[in-house]
Amino acid sequence: MFICICKGIKESDVRELGQAGVTCPKKLADALELNDKQQCCGRCIKNISKFVALATEESSCRTPQ
Ligand code: FES
Repeated sequence: MFICICKGIKESDVRELGQAGVTCPKKLADALELNDKQQCCGRCIKNISKFVALATEESSCRTPQ
């Protein structure tokens, strides 16, 4: 399911970033290029907490090593 129309980002893309350890708002915004004012409407950077929730939801399910 797409969660960002401007960048064509899917929930699975954010979950994959979370699995790779990218879970903080700034790193997620950078990785997904959500600060690109020419190609983004600004909705997703305002709601970055939803991206963080998706990324951390997946990573918190992993077994600690
Ligand atoms: S819908 Fe994600 S930045 Fe516009």
